Amino acid sequence: MSAQHAIVFDKVTKTFPKASKPSVNETSLAIEKGAFVTILGASGCGKTTLLKMVNRIIEPSGGKLSVFGKDIREVPVNELRQSIGYVIQQVGLFPHMTIEENIATVPNILGWDRQKTQKRTEELMELVHLPTNFKNRYPRQLSGGQQQRVGIARAMAGDPEILLMDEPFGAIDAITRTKLQDDFLDIQRKLGKTVLFVTHDVDEALKLGDRVVVMNEGTIQQYDTPLGMVSKPANEFVKQLIRTDDLFLRLQLINASEKMIALTEPPREGEPRVSGNESLRNVLQRLLVQGSGRVLVEDADGLPVGQLTLDILKFEG
Ligand SMILES: Nc1ncnc2c1ncn2[C@@H]1O[C@H](COP(=O)(O)OP(=O)(O)OP(=O)(O)O)[C@@H](O)[C@H]1O
Ligand SMILES: [Mg+2]
Repeated sequence: MSAQHAIVFDKVTKTFPKASKPSVNETSLAIEKGAFVTILGASGCGKTTLLKMVNRIIEPSGGKLSVFGKDIREVPVNELRQSIGYVIQQVGLFPHMTIEENIATVPNILGWDRQKTQKRTEELMELVHLPTNFKNRYPRQLSGGQQQRVGIARAMAGDPEILLMDEPFGAIDAITRTKLQDDFLDIQRKLGKTVLFVTHDVDEALKLGDRVVVMNEGTIQQYDTPLGMVSKPANEFVKQLIRTDDLFLRLQLINASEKMIALTEPPREGEPRVSGNESLRNVLQRLLVQGSGRVLVEDADGLPVGQLTLDILKFEG
């Protein structure tokens, strides 16, 4: 089972000294290579603890944790951490170091030469959409969103296979946050890293994750695709948290191509069109705003291959 898995938690428990109950309790979770997994749950439910056990900042008090099939206790800790990028809660850039020096933290530890490090730094700044002339600035001279981008670049500098991200966009305004989310999704699709991403924000968890973990009081309540979670919540806790009765939210998670039916009549001029990967929520918007009876769904070549009507969307709700 471990061949296709990047991270496997096998009944992992963490009880801090003097604590009356475990912060993470007998948690089992298998994360596939290349998956984007979001972890959702209230403050104090154990999200950061779960994350920090993967790179051994926190040692589990029970169970077994494997990374790429190896028990992490059998991998030298430096080697383990080099294969895992980490974006900590509250950015955590080094204030007295320039942006370039911040991003080059891992290359410098690894002893890369100056030229290779410089090239990598510039590459990463481009990747996260930061102007390269920021490299001599200090973190306080950047906006919160820009600092987050530096944090991501720094975590990716050693080209790790796994990225642990602890509420990386937590303190960012809604507009900047959406942009960061979209840019980071692009980066992840391009590079195929395995990502464990902690968030408080339900919409963010459902938007970014291929799969979502819902935690409560140190235990996993459900591990499922966003759609699976919304349409079949495992229990009342998940149901309340995810607001599964929200029709718009459900429509947001389903693509036009998944629900379209065959054209009932040939396309007419001026009918609204969407591409197959647009959400049913956008389809609904088109139906309402353009007052059309149907929306045509196009294939990759822009040819109408199916249609959606209000009746089909209603059925989804
Ligand atoms: N070093 C520690 N020593 C003792 N208890 C700790 C320690 N770190 C965390 N805890 C406790 O473990 C529980 C889980 O903490 P954790 O930081 O994992 O929560 P979280 O889900 O990340 O919360 P938040 O959303 O606020 O960041 C909390 O009750 C916390 O007080
Ligand atoms: Mg936390």
